[in-house]
Amino acid sequence: MISFEHVGKAFAGNVAIDDLSLAIDEGEFIVVIGPSGSGKSTVLRMLNRLVEHDHGRIVFAGEEIRRFKPEVLRRRMGYAIQSIGLFPHWTVEQNIATVPDLLAWPRPRVRDRVTELMELLKLAPETYRRRYPHQLSGGQQQRVGVARALAGDPAVLLMDEPFGSLDPVTRDSLQQEIARIHEASGKTILFVTHDIDEALRLATRIVLLDRGRVVQVGTPREVLAHPTSKFVSDFVGGSDIGIKLLGLDTVAAYVRHGETAAGEPIAMTASLREALSMFVVRQVDRLAVADDEGRTVGAITLSDVVKPRP
Ligand SMILES: Nc1ncnc2c1ncn2[C@@H]1O[C@H](COP(=O)(O)OP(=O)(O)OP(=O)(O)O)[C@@H](O)[C@H]1O
Ligand SMILES: [Mg+2]
Repeated sequence: MISFEHVGKAFAGNVAIDDLSLAIDEGEFIVVIGPSGSGKSTVLRMLNRLVEHDHGRIVFAGEEIRRFKPEVLRRRMGYAIQSIGLFPHWTVEQNIATVPDLLAWPRPRVRDRVTELMELLKLAPETYRRRYPHQLSGGQQQRVGVARALAGDPAVLLMDEPFGSLDPVTRDSLQQEIARIHEASGKTILFVTHDIDEALRLATRIVLLDRGRVVQVGTPREVLAHPTSKFVSDFVGGSDIGIKLLGLDTVAAYVRHGETAAGEPIAMTASLREALSMFVVRQVDRLAVADDEGRTVGAITLSDVVKPRP
């Protein structure tokens, strides 16, 4: 649905993106990650023509993006960025309604859409819809930004560190929310982050950049299990790679059905990383495992956790 073909971009002679080639299928959740200044934001901004690429081709829905008017492109690709970006003299409601208003949706439909998105992002509609951005906390502003990006129901979402300045709890719930939205809608998402755990949790594929070049593209498991260089292995976890790999699997696949263990059971949906933590905290080498309804269905052992993945 989107492809970059030998794309290059320089700012005043300094190369920001060097020979980027990447094909993205519909419904993928691509997480672009890399050090500060590696070109992550530039990738997103070339796609919605906030910056124009110098070399190569960028194709969206079968057409080179220069064939689209920038405003048409931006309506079809929701864009959410860290901190800035809200219109300061517009209320929360007006900000979220930017694209629906451009598309001239009828008033009641716009209002319903704003209410729906505010509820989705845990912003009480009646409390906040008439406030201005400066009357919101940083985290609330970010959530308005995400709601605005979603409002016109675009096929593509571009998200540039959208959860950057949130506390861990809010961040966790927004990550869950965006994962759920992705699963339910099949939208194509390009998401930039500095945070490898966020990338591992959300991505169908991770694109790791270093100084404007792609150094590895792969699923979270591929990148963790088979880093192609020391730069990649350091970046994705260093000495914690094994622990992060355990975070990708759930207890469910390792249950010894019919066996038992003492103590409070762990949920089947917990990750092996959480299981490992529980073994250590409880000083045991067996845990009971429970299903969604809390019924014990079996047990898992400490050595199961380090077995080859099924
Ligand atoms: N509008 C611009 N004018 C000049 N240089 C720019 C411009 N935008 C980006 N650059 C430069 O291009 C390079 C890549 O910038 P980019 O913003 O894409 O990095 P990034 O990976 O998003 O970094 P960060 O993690 O800090 O947000 C940097 O060296 C930056 O200074
Ligand atoms: Mg950036």
